[in-house]
Amino acid sequence: MSAVERPQHPTSVQDAWGRSLTSLRVSVTDRCNLRCQYCMPEEEYVWLPRETLLTFEELVVLTNLFTLQGVDKVRITGGEPLLRKNLPAFIAMLRQNSRIQDIAITTNGVLLAEQGQDLFDAGLHRVTVSLDTLKPERFKALTRRDTLSQVFEGIESVTKMGFVGLKLDTVAMKGYNDDELIPLIEYGKRVNGEVRFIEYMDVGGANDWSPDKVLSRKEILTELGRYYGEIEPVVEMSSAPAQRFRLSDGTIFGIISSTTVPFCSTCDRSRLTADGMWYLCLYAKSGLDLRKLLRSGRSDEDIQSIIQSVWRVRKDRGAEERKELEHQSGRRGRYIEIDRLRQDPHLEMHARGG
Ligand code: GTP
Ligand code: 5AD
Ligand code: SF4
Repeated sequence: MSAVERPQHPTSVQDAWGRSLTSLRVSVTDRCNLRCQYCMPEEEYVWLPRETLLTFEELVVLTNLFTLQGVDKVRITGGEPLLRKNLPAFIAMLRQNSRIQDIAITTNGVLLAEQGQDLFDAGLHRVTVSLDTLKPERFKALTRRDTLSQVFEGIESVTKMGFVGLKLDTVAMKGYNDDELIPLIEYGKRVNGEVRFIEYMDVGGANDWSPDKVLSRKEILTELGRYYGEIEPVVEMSSAPAQRFRLSDGTIFGIISSTTVPFCSTCDRSRLTADGMWYLCLYAKSGLDLRKLLRSGRSDEDIQSIIQSVWRVRKDRGAEERKELEHQSGRRGRYIEIDRLRQDPHLEMHARGG
């Protein structure tokens, strides 16, 4: 672990590397209405059994316990979170907790025009929409669905609903959308959204991943620099995965370089799946079953102290370990075999949130 400066949260529990627990990603469903190549490339999946899904009340109990350990930022993910019924009610319940300063959602945008206003009215602060292409045919090839116009409609309606801080997340992949970096930045300008290019990661369900499909931060900057001229890094102290840059006209964009320049040393996040498994790392192969603790009647104090003691010994640095493989074997292939993914759906990216 490199000894980089990292912001330390004054009241948060620290892990073995001195990393705070400040951000919780709560997946509210493992289902999705798209089939993105890099996340859910197959049509059929083994889904989490419905009876194991936590109710909103249970998710709120757990989230509140996390906030007592330092969490002040909650991101709602999926699968596609807007597929979970009554999501505004969940947001309103989270808003009751004054320790939570930021509630954001990561969505594919398909149902956003329909649901965004109710989410805003319930107290959701920010929206991040996944947008990998501006071309309908390509969208269809990439997601197996023909719903790009709905995504545009969603993106273009959020500002009117009252949201600020829109982000557009693009997984940059060679041979898929590497010719759309500039159009995506231009689209971002038009809709007042900050575009972030994400390096293709070899996580769970990305079973088509290979190193030659990764468009690296370096390549992204070179390509954008050729067109826009000088690109200046934005200097800021942050544990956010995106490194931000400024174009000469003031436009800000981000790059999330999880694959070529991992940022585990500042990682302050963990993940709760829709059925209550707690994962300390995006790459973790096992997690802690908080549903079992909750449903077996363990007291809040007990669960809180378990969360604290587990975080204290956390040493996860999954993305860095994956990167080190390149030096050891020279080859970095698929992370988890398909058979193993089928046996344990928690290993999929769509179960633990993008
Ligand atoms: P903000 O709260 O807006 O700063 O969100 P964020 O920058 O944390 O980004 P977001 O949660 O939208 O995540 C963007 C992308 O970063 C995800 O879709 C993943 O591709 C990647 N990412 C998110 N969390 C992790 C993580 O814990 N580890 C790694 N390696 N990558 C992550
Ligand atoms: N590589 C990078 N990002 C991914 N996501 C899902 N799978 C991957 C992957 N293999 C992220 C993307 C997407 C969000 C839902 O999850 O950012 O927008
Ligand atoms: Fe955090 Fe694991 Fe992602 Fe590294 S790979 S940034 S430790 S979640």
